[in-house]
Amino acid sequence: LLCEPKTYPTQKQAETLDFWVPDTVLSIAEGDKVDFRVEGYVAYDVQALIEHSGMPFEIMIEDVQLAVQREQDSNIRAVHSYEKYNDIDTINAWTGSIAEENPDLVSRSFFTTSYEGRPVYLLKVGKSGSNKKAIFIDCGFHAREWVTPAFCQWFVKEAINSYGSDEEFTNLLDNLDFYILPVLNVDGYAYSWTNDRLWRKTRSLNKNQKCVGTDPNRNFDAAWCTGGASASPCSTVYCGSTPESENETKALGDFIRNNLSSIKGYLTIHSYSQMLLFPYSYTNLRAKDHNELNSLAKSAVEKLATLHGTVYTYGPGGKTIYISAGGSDDWAYDTGVKYSYTFELRDLGTYGFLLPESQIKDTCEETMLAVKHIAEHILNNA
Ligand code: ARG
Ligand code: ZN
Repeated sequence: LLCEPKTYPTQKQAETLDFWVPDTVLSIAEGDKVDFRVEGYVAYDVQALIEHSGMPFEIMIEDVQLAVQREQDSNIRAVHSYEKYNDIDTINAWTGSIAEENPDLVSRSFFTTSYEGRPVYLLKVGKSGSNKKAIFIDCGFHAREWVTPAFCQWFVKEAINSYGSDEEFTNLLDNLDFYILPVLNVDGYAYSWTNDRLWRKTRSLNKNQKCVGTDPNRNFDAAWCTGGASASPCSTVYCGSTPESENETKALGDFIRNNLSSIKGYLTIHSYSQMLLFPYSYTNLRAKDHNELNSLAKSAVEKLATLHGTVYTYGPGGKTIYISAGGSDDWAYDTGVKYSYTFELRDLGTYGFLLPESQIKDTCEETMLAVKHIAEHILNNA
C-alpha cells in the first residue's frame, strides 16, 4: 500500500506492526508499497484506518496461522527431504551424511558454536585441486526465510548429481570450490520452528534488556548501525552491541578474512521479493565495480527467468530496495570480495516467508541457473 506522510503511524505504533517488506518502518519512503502483518485483534481497526486514509491496499493473507499450517504438506518431519522444509537437527545430520557419502566432492567442517550452543557446519563442495578460486554461499541469515536453507541443500544435491554428467557444472566443480553454509542463524531458525514462525534475528540475550536477538544482516562493519538499522534491541533490525557481536557473524567475518586470497564471490541468500542486489546498500553512491556487477546481475536474472518466467528486479541494494547498513554483502565487498550479491528468492508476497513446500523445487531450480551463471563469470574473470 502507499504511504503518505500525514498518515504515517508513529514510531511506537509502527513497531507493533510486523513489517515483511521492507524489514522495518525505518526504511519506508513516501510512495513505497509495503507488506506488513497485524495481530488479529486489531486487524479490523487497522483496515478501517487505511480505508479512511484513502490508501490503496490489498489483503494478501487473511489468516497467517492457517497459512503457516498449510505451508508444510504434512507434519511428519523425521526424514530429510529436498522438497520439504527440514528442521535444524535434520539439516545438521544431513550435512554429516552428505559429506560421508561423497568424500571426493563434499567435506564438512565445524564453523562455530551458536549463542545457544548449537553447531554451525560448513560444507566445501568441489573436486580437490590446488590454488582453486572459491565462492562462499550462505543461507538462513534470517530465521523466517525458510526457503533459503532449502536452496543451500538443493545446491549440494545438484552438485553431486551433476558431477560427471553435466558438462557445465562439472567444469565449475573442477575449477572452483563452493563453501556452502546451509544455516548461519541456527538458533533463530530453530526458534522459528518451535516458538515463532516469523522470528528474524539471532537469539542472543541483550544486556539489561527484555528483547532478544540481533539482526545478523545489520551486524557487519559496513557503515554499521546507520541507515535502515536500529540501535534499539527491541527492533527487528537491531544492529547489535558492536559489529560482529554475534558468534555466527563473527565466524563468518573471520572465515572470509582468513580466506580472502581464494574467495572471489560471496552470495548471501534471503527471501522474499525476487531481487538480485549488489553493493551498496549503506549508501546511494555507486560501487567501483557497478557496471560489471550490474550487467552480471542483468544476465543472471534473465537466465533465471528462462525456466519458469519468474521475474526478478536487480540493482544496487540502496536504490533497489532501501538503504540498510551493516549488511554482509557490503562488508564482503569492501573487504575485497568483488562479486558480492544478495538474492531475495520467491515470492512477491502472495505467501511471503510462508512459501509452500510445493514451490521449493521450482524456486531452487531457477535460482541454480542464476548462481551457476554468476559462478561461471567468476571462474572466467576473477
Ligand atoms: N532484505 C535484506 C535485509 O534487509 C536485504 C539485504 C540487502 N543488503 C544489505 N546490505 N542491506 O537484510
Ligand atoms: Zn533476509
